[in-house]
Amino acid sequence: MRFILIGAGQRGMIYARCIQERGHEIAAVAERDAQRRKAARQAFGIPEERCYESGERLLAQPRMGDAAIIATMDRDHYGQAIPAMEKGYHLLLEKPISPIPEQFLEIEATAHRLKRHVAVCHVLRYAPFFMEIKRLLDAGAIGKVVTIQHNENIGNFHFAHSFVRGNWRRKADSSPLIMQKSCHDMDLLVWLAGSGCKRVASFGELTYFKAQNAPEGAAKRCADCPRSDSCRFSAYSCYLPIAGCWPASVLSGDQSEAGLREAIRTGPYGRCVYHCDNDVCDHQVTVLEFDNGVTATFNLSAFTDRIARTLKIMGEDGELRASEEMNTIEVIPFSSNAQAKAEIRTIHPALAASGHSGGDAGIVDSFLKMLEAGGGETATDISRSVESHLMACAAEEARVTGAVVEIADFRRRHEGGAGA
Ligand SMILES: NC(=O)c1ccc[n+]([C@@H]2O[C@H](COP(=O)([O-])OP(=O)(O)OC[C@H]3O[C@@H](n4cnc5c(N)ncnc54)[C@H](O)[C@@H]3O)[C@@H](O)[C@H]2O)c1
Repeated sequence: MRFILIGAGQRGMIYARCIQERGHEIAAVAERDAQRRKAARQAFGIPEERCYESGERLLAQPRMGDAAIIATMDRDHYGQAIPAMEKGYHLLLEKPISPIPEQFLEIEATAHRLKRHVAVCHVLRYAPFFMEIKRLLDAGAIGKVVTIQHNENIGNFHFAHSFVRGNWRRKADSSPLIMQKSCHDMDLLVWLAGSGCKRVASFGELTYFKAQNAPEGAAKRCADCPRSDSCRFSAYSCYLPIAGCWPASVLSGDQSEAGLREAIRTGPYGRCVYHCDNDVCDHQVTVLEFDNGVTATFNLSAFTDRIARTLKIMGEDGELRASEEMNTIEVIPFSSNAQAKAEIRTIHPALAASGHSGGDAGIVDSFLKMLEAGGGETATDISRSVESHLMACAAEEARVTGAVVEIADFRRRHEGGAGA
């Protein structure tokens, strides 16, 4: 099969490589950045005349493949997804579908109207770790699920990189934190609760990464800062020791020490974390009630050391505790009294080589299988994924207004097309 790639950044290249490794062709690329465009052209052997400076230009050409990978930034997806479907492409579409409810609902409606397959990159549903949790719940390992406690531990250095200095620091330019980081978690919760969501409440704000918390005398950039040697957020400590690896790889195509030092001196990742123009929250707690009566709390936080999700799922007959970092799932049946020893079953799901614990390769395989079969659905079909996006947007509205937001009512208020 033939694919076109729109946005040859971090994510787009992962999917395109995966597709190529499975024997399919990347027939054309659209990428704004000349260096990245060239890297994609070379990696996939794309002729020069099929390399475009923008997705819009590529989509103005006659159709060049069966499906499009759309991996540009959050707010570009809508303007590319609709014309791509109209051109006849099926879509492997990065999340968020769009941060704007009218737009993601229109993408869903267009996919249905034109009968296009749209798989949204909620990659965690394809990761062996989360698939095993779902399998255990479905097999009744803890009885009927009653309530879920879910934590998305963003990792302090990761938050500073992506949400203070990086692409996702400003709500208006990308998405609110809960949409950007946690439409994945909303999707996991709907899946694990086994039900649509009824209503949400949410609290949180930007507490720490602000000017008032800067060390005395801190400069606007690490290159000029007298406190740089003692600051854990010094860009020199964050990036120089991990040249070639994420997130240093985001700073520049030149990963030599000189290349990174230059990026730190002049680029966005050399800014002081206390003096950026960031506005997304650094912690947010959300409370959810599902249609089947399951309840959940979700804690999204920059104030964690490692990057990994932890869950406790409480059922009628036992509890399930899971740590993504430890790759451990414990199933603990309830005992009759404090002395009775519960037989704890510990499971370590298969470890996968690809990113997101195997989810990146998993979604590609599922998308290819569906296209090869000429139909069917992926686990993260557009209609399933719209649910998580409604929850994330409703949670953000709840956080901002202080109200409890009903999902059905939220959907009704935003249906009718992006132009309505
Ligand atoms: N599924 C996941 O777990 C996951 C993880 C991280 C990011 N994402 C999402 O993936 C998307 C891309 O993130 P990324 O980290 O790869 O960002 P990135 O900045 O590395 O890549 C985006 C690329 O799109 C290019 N671009 C922008 N506008 C364009 C246009 N009009 N035409 C062609 N190219 C254009 C940019 O030059 C850039 O190279 C975002 O929406 C992000 O939210 C998803």
